[in-house]
Amino acid sequence: MRLDKFLANAGIGSRKEVSKLIRDKQVKVEDETVNKPNHKVSYDSLITVNDEQVILEEYIYLMLNKPEGVISSTEDGPTQTVMELIDHPQIDELFPVGRLDKDTTGLLIVSNDGKLSHSLLSPRNKIGKTYEVILREDVTDEDIVKLEAGIPLKDFTSSPAIAEKIEDRKVELTIYEGKFHQVKRMFIYLNNEVIGLKRISFGSLPLDEMLEPGESRYLTDEEVNNLT
Ligand code: URA
Repeated sequence: MRLDKFLANAGIGSRKEVSKLIRDKQVKVEDETVNKPNHKVSYDSLITVNDEQVILEEYIYLMLNKPEGVISSTEDGPTQTVMELIDHPQIDELFPVGRLDKDTTGLLIVSNDGKLSHSLLSPRNKIGKTYEVILREDVTDEDIVKLEAGIPLKDFTSSPAIAEKIEDRKVELTIYEGKFHQVKRMFIYLNNEVIGLKRISFGSLPLDEMLEPGESRYLTDEEVNNLT
């Protein structure tokens, strides 16, 4: 990629601003001053601006503990988005992998890897997402049997879920799709109502309970490799 693009994508400035830095001889590639904005570099090139190294990450994988009241969107609007909770120089490249409702909390993966995102969200890959579900009414043994058989909804029937009753009004539910309001709709079918919803794992990845709501961290290489 071009040096000016590398620097702009790394958050150093606009294309115009970084081109000026390059022309002003403030940028080195592999310890050599470079004065052409179109100089070719790669993600692993050693690039410095005024002798400070600039890092551009090719693939970024973050785990966010989503708080209530923010939307899983990249678009600016009146409501705060999950992206506004993340401080990263390459924020413009990042997007949430799937969506959680505004009032849902817990694990949200944020990445710039479209291929991984697609593969994690494809229903064909049957990747389980586990939610801690708090309900208005008691859950019966019959409800658990129905959840584990598959719930007929308007647009589809859910795959057999894994449902474990933790308390009278608390269930741990693993589903294998990610349709709009899916968990809420499954419990409406059972004449109940979800009053609290937290995603506690995505495939092999559990929510890091050390993260306070609103905090994020990088996934480790092992966590990324185990995801698919
Ligand atoms: N199911 C829902 O109903 N809402 C979510 O946010 C996630 C799953």
